[in-house]
Amino acid sequence: MTTNIPGYTYGSAEVAKSPLSMDDFANIKHAALFGDEDVRYLKMSRDILKDQVEQILDVWYGFVGSTPFLLHYFTNKSDNQPNTDYLGAVRKRFGQWILDTANANYDQDWLNYQYEIGLRHHSIKKNKTDNVDAVPIINLRYILALQVPITTTLRPFLEKDGHSSEDVDKMQDAWRKSVLMQVILWSQPYIHEGQF
Ligand code: HEM
Repeated sequence: MTTNIPGYTYGSAEVAKSPLSMDDFANIKHAALFGDEDVRYLKMSRDILKDQVEQILDVWYGFVGSTPFLLHYFTNKSDNQPNTDYLGAVRKRFGQWILDTANANYDQDWLNYQYEIGLRHHSIKKNKTDNVDAVPIINLRYILALQVPITTTLRPFLEKDGHSSEDVDKMQDAWRKSVLMQVILWSQPYIHEGQF
């Protein structure tokens, strides 16, 4: 995926190889009952969501911005104030992530970038991409919990294009599974070697 978004390195040589293989990921898909139908519904969602990315981000950022213990992770270590440059830079990559999730193109580059996103939430790489001095790690418990608002608040956007409620249900289910699988992959740096 080539874009001009600063710090978005999906597909570039600087992204490390995922410690998981594509076969390992196939097992995660199998275990999460994620199949071809989910891929089809994610791709259907792309056409609907692609023109609504900014409005979706407004909702998600509205939630994080109005929840002090979440906004905390975007604050400077020095003065405990929200870093608006950091918020803005991450927002651009988050917007691209919406499209990437809906693309559902699971190749080695995608798997490698999942590892990268996990590292960027963890102290190993947090703050490095945007060169900021914010709090050093996002606690895993909130990453897991945030799946709920992210996939719940998507529904009104999925409904915008006049698809049947059955299609909307299936798109939302596919999103829930995709976000779950990504968050599973992102959790790896948080887990002791050999336990993931
Ligand atoms: C970065 C999604 C949970 C704070 C990102 C990025 C995405 C993302 C797509 C940009 C990745 C890139 O650099 O290309 C998500 C999703 C979550 C989640 C889908 C849960 C399901 C959280 C939580 C927080 C958070 C709970 C806490 C407020 C951040 C921060 C960054 C970031 C601070 C920038 C990290 C860095 O310094 O590079 N997130 N996130 N995220 N997210 Fe999350």
